Amino acid sequence: MRIEPFQLERWMTTYEMDARWDIAESGIFPLSTREIIALLPPEERASALDRILDLRLGYSEARGSEELRSLIAATYRETSPDEVLVTTGAIEANFLLFNELLSPGDRVVIVDPAYQQLQSVARAIGCDVALWSLRAQDGFRFDLDELRRLATPGTRMIVLNTPHNPTGAMLNDEDLREVYAIAEKLDAWVLSDEAYRWLDLPGQPPLAPPMRDIGPRAISTGTFSKPFGLPGLRTGWLVAPEEIVRRCWGLRDYVSLSPGKLNDALAVIAFEQRDQIVARTREIVAENLPVAARWFAENADIVSWTPPRGGLLGLMRYGLDIPSLQLANRLAEEYGVMLAPGSAFGYEGHLRIGIGNSPDVFAEGLRQTARCLRELERAGAPIEASSMARASA
Ligand SMILES: Cc1ncc(COP(=O)(O)O)c(C=O)c1O
Repeated sequence: MRIEPFQLERWMTTYEMDARWDIAESGIFPLSTREIIALLPPEERASALDRILDLRLGYSEARGSEELRSLIAATYRETSPDEVLVTTGAIEANFLLFNELLSPGDRVVIVDPAYQQLQSVARAIGCDVALWSLRAQDGFRFDLDELRRLATPGTRMIVLNTPHNPTGAMLNDEDLREVYAIAEKLDAWVLSDEAYRWLDLPGQPPLAPPMRDIGPRAISTGTFSKPFGLPGLRTGWLVAPEEIVRRCWGLRDYVSLSPGKLNDALAVIAFEQRDQIVARTREIVAENLPVAARWFAENADIVSWTPPRGGLLGLMRYGLDIPSLQLANRLAEEYGVMLAPGSAFGYEGHLRIGIGNSPDVFAEGLRQTARCLRELERAGAPIEASSMARASA
């Protein structure tokens, strides 16, 4: 397979180990193993730790342990553990599904902008990719009329991501059902990347139930990376009809074979303590969102955004005439701040901001960002007054 470079990942790996204020991160401030164990009732901690330390690190059950698959299955409607495949992150889940379900020439409608994998893998397979656009001027809304126009007869798959990376848009239950109805009529699959599941935001509507719950043509993917703050576990999943799970498992034999055994065991504890982890996530976000709101208000002459409705990400528009990659590099190299370049999503004039890092890092990252933008402004970088007016309209 020939595949285009993953622009965001290439950029992130350049700076993520050194940046002091990483507010580009798409996840939540991560948990340590000690913190995972500490989620358990005090009387259970010592034995849980012993179980982890004594675990024989042989190969694990290839599909993911029955225990983990059962826990995941229980969060979907009438789903058995055999309809779940534990994968190396949601990224592997998506990759397996694209490769099992799509062939060269197939028409696929994919949300845009997007986590690049969702578009690039389909393109590398040779699919006819139609982009379903979320636009800044519409407040980053999923436009179902546009989907109806794009999903022409012969469409094999509709790919969405809700809550959405990078805009924070999301589909409600009614919208998801409508997307499903459109796909069902065409005998197409719906792949819903739900990496940001459980990440409702204060003051915003609750998240819709997962796509998979709607019907047999729906497939959901999920992960421990975002809602749980455990990207280092490299553990995700797909939930699909059993036959699809079996096919993806067969392909996975050639890719990563099985989940890491230690990761699977820690994932079980984290999943069982999900409510506590999600509460921690909500606390972090509840602290960061008002800081962001104040910062955008104070700097409204130079930056604007549509606050995320779900998940952990938003796109920030800046009113300086400087390419986003150049600005992001400058922020990282001279100010120690990571904000991802919008160009990695085909969104020039924007930076992607994550609201999940620890509140002290988040607040300082924003302060440093304002310092950089003001210095650029003083140095004479032209301000795009008309575009700022448009963005904040
Ligand atoms: C929408 C989306 N899907 C999938 C992934 C991959 O996540 P994971 O760490 O579970 O592989 C990401 C990571 O940023 C993402 O934003």
